Amino acid sequence: MNIAIVPRPLGVTLGRTDRTGCRLSDGLVISHAPELVREARWFRQVLEAGTGWLIHLAPHESAPDAAIELNLAPQIELPSDVASGVHDRTRDAAYRLTSAGGRIVITSPGAEGTFYALQTLRQLLPDATFRKAGYAEPVSIPELEIVDAPRLAWRGVLLDVARHFMPKSFILELIDLLALHKCNVLHLHLTDDQGWRIEVEGYPRLTEVGAWRRESTGSDVTAADSDESFHGGFYTREDLEEIVAYAGERHVEVLPEIDMPGHMVAAIAAYPALGNTDERLSVRPSWGISSHVLNLEDDTLRFCTDVLDEVVHIFPGPYVHVGGDECPTTEWKTDPRAQEIMHEEGYVDEVQLQGWFNARVANHLAQRHRRVVAWDDVLESDAPPDAIVMAWQDEARGVAAVAAGHDVVMVPQEWLYFDRPESADPDEPVGFSGPTTLEKVYLHDPVPKAIPAGDRHRVLGAQCQLWTELVATPREAQYRYFPRLCAFAEIAWSVESAERPKSYEEFEGRLRQHLERLTAMGVNFRPPEGPHHE
Ligand code: ACM
Repeated sequence: MNIAIVPRPLGVTLGRTDRTGCRLSDGLVISHAPELVREARWFRQVLEAGTGWLIHLAPHESAPDAAIELNLAPQIELPSDVASGVHDRTRDAAYRLTSAGGRIVITSPGAEGTFYALQTLRQLLPDATFRKAGYAEPVSIPELEIVDAPRLAWRGVLLDVARHFMPKSFILELIDLLALHKCNVLHLHLTDDQGWRIEVEGYPRLTEVGAWRRESTGSDVTAADSDESFHGGFYTREDLEEIVAYAGERHVEVLPEIDMPGHMVAAIAAYPALGNTDERLSVRPSWGISSHVLNLEDDTLRFCTDVLDEVVHIFPGPYVHVGGDECPTTEWKTDPRAQEIMHEEGYVDEVQLQGWFNARVANHLAQRHRRVVAWDDVLESDAPPDAIVMAWQDEARGVAAVAAGHDVVMVPQEWLYFDRPESADPDEPVGFSGPTTLEKVYLHDPVPKAIPAGDRHRVLGAQCQLWTELVATPREAQYRYFPRLCAFAEIAWSVESAERPKSYEEFEGRLRQHLERLTAMGVNFRPPEGPHHE
């Protein structure tokens, strides 16, 4: 049997090739520690669907002969050459999986590691078991031992649902795909100039007006994507709670983003009093950066904190992303309230007003026990000291953020923006800027060498981004994510060392087999050999 697990585990030791470690078949019994019932249930559900088997769950004491055993243990011994490469915050995600003597034994310090072990076990089964219905013959797993732990604690994927609304069903499916690749953060970019996607109590026009636009007028790159169709949609509180719960069962945290004080035209179109101009704005049909931003009146700050309270109510995670990118200050130069604050605070540049705004937002969230995440633009105007900075413009921004005492998530556009085309081939779907190839993603190291070794723990992790100006449907979104997301997952999860060097050729071989799984799941990935041609 050829072992092709993506992302690559730390260590796979094969036993005697003439011996089967374990045989799984209809009537399979899984015994589990009481704390692991959620993970056992999830596994039963996906495996019953893909195999047609009946699977039983039982506590250890009543099933001493179970073929699969899920155990907790205080810690997993990691190979010495890699132990230092594994982030301290990720120890609960480590696991050991052994297949020997007719049993599969999974051991982990926590539910998270157990879940990842079960994801690995799925990848030891036939590709067809990734289907949602079918019947499988008994499966033999070879004798082996896998020891594994993630390199980075934050292994994120951004989906922009503001530029093009994506249906809830697609988000749930994407969460399954994140979990398959051991990614653990889904960042939802919920609001922007082109659309407002979250229902907020007390502000019905955000979704009555802000969630819809009459057309998409093409990008600043090309007019080829112009689209005169009416576009829109939003998620109710119940939809978002369902997404959060579904993600939680799969060890994925949902990070909500409300982008402010720029990127707010959809909200200003719904509530003109939030803006700085008497001009009546529409939800923005075109891409690029708008000069229209929020004003700095008390009522507008109250609007922002009301929205954030709704967010905090729905999303239980420790972080809230408040955007902060690309906020032109032109309107503030002539706005009386903005100028009054400039005078009161003794500011010399309007950019300082963004620091003023961010501090208020961050304080409000701190009172609700949430920590702010923001784009690296906030470094230009006194970023809130506790803010986690997402370094998108380049690596140097991440290095600067760490030097300024921030934790960072590395998301540099050159390597991790998947709205960029996958190659220079003119048959690629149109993308922003130069190509970001699969190989380029795979060879990227998300922890910049320029960060001093003693500070690298401040790099919480990395994240790939799919902005959707030029991506109108789930099918197109899958094409842009995959297989680059497989490479991303590997650079975020897999530890490299002298004994475990990274090799693109080796990855390509494993990926070829892995794509059979994505095929069984019905994922529309870009073929590694090139774009589809007419
Ligand atoms: C961004 O790409 N403006 C975060």
